[in-house]
Amino acid sequence: MPDPSAPILIFDSGVGGLTVLAEVRKMLPRARVIYVADRAALPYGDKSEAEIAARVCGLLGRLAERYHPRLICIACNTASTIALGMVRDVLEVPVVGTVPAIKPAAEMTQSGVIGLLGTAATIRQAYVDRLEAEFAAGKLLLRHAAPELVGAAEMKLRGGSPDPAIFARAAQGLRSQPRGDEIDTVVLACTHFPLLLPELSAAFGPKVRFIDGAQGIARRVAYLTQGQPWNGPAAGQDQDFAIVTGDATDNPALLRAFQPFGIGRILPL
Ligand code: DGL
Repeated sequence: MPDPSAPILIFDSGVGGLTVLAEVRKMLPRARVIYVADRAALPYGDKSEAEIAARVCGLLGRLAERYHPRLICIACNTASTIALGMVRDVLEVPVVGTVPAIKPAAEMTQSGVIGLLGTAATIRQAYVDRLEAEFAAGKLLLRHAAPELVGAAEMKLRGGSPDPAIFARAAQGLRSQPRGDEIDTVVLACTHFPLLLPELSAAFGPKVRFIDGAQGIARRVAYLTQGQPWNGPAAGQDQDFAIVTGDATDNPALLRAFQPFGIGRILPL
C-alpha cells in the first residue's frame, strides 16, 4: 500500500494536462496531485522523437526520485505516443499514458469518416497507425496537424483571446481532404485541444462531435489506485502544487489558470 500522502504526478508540456487533471479530480477528489508543465520545452509537437523521448524520460526519472509518486500520468499525446514504452521500461512506478481516442470515435461515427487533430509529432506516429488499424478498420481516418491550437489554448487559459482564424484553419485542414466534408466525429488527440471546445465546435459546425481521452484516462488512474488510501486536500482546503520548468515571468498568470484545478502554488524544477 502506498503512503496516503503519495501523490499522482500528472505531466504535460503546458496547460493541456489540466483537461486530464479535471477528470482525475472528479473521480478521486482526495488524491494528492503534483502537476508538471514542462514549459521550457513547449511545444513538444515540433520536436524530434529522440528529443522528446530523452526529455520525458529524464524529467520523469528525476521527478519520480524526488517525489515518490504512486502513479505517473503522461497527460500528453505527443509524449505518450513516442515515449510511453521507454518511460515504463525505466521507472518502477505505474505509468498511464494518453493516446488518441480512435476506438470510441470509430464506435461513434455514423458517416464512417473520422477527423483527428493533433500535433505534428503525434499524427506521424506508428502508434497512431496501430490504433487506426486495430480500431478503425473499415473507417476513414483523416489526420491534420494543428500546432497553432497549442498556443491558442495556452493563450486562452491565461485570459487571452486567440484569433478565430486559427480554428477556421484547423477545421479547413480536415475538411479540405478528400471526403473531409463527411467527417462527423473529430478526435482531439492533444490534451490542449479540449480547452478550446467551444471555439472548435463553432468552427466545425453543429453536426460534428468531438471526443478526447481524458475521461478514459481518469478511469484508468482510478482503477490502478483502487483501494489505496488518500489524504489529499478536502475541497476548499489547502491545495496541491505544480512544477513548471523554464522562465517564471508568466507564472502569476499561469497560477490563475491552475487555481480552479486545485493548484495553489507553482514551484521551479
Ligand atoms: N499537450 C500535448 C499533447 O497532448 C502537446 C502540446 C505540445 O506540442 O507541447 O500532445
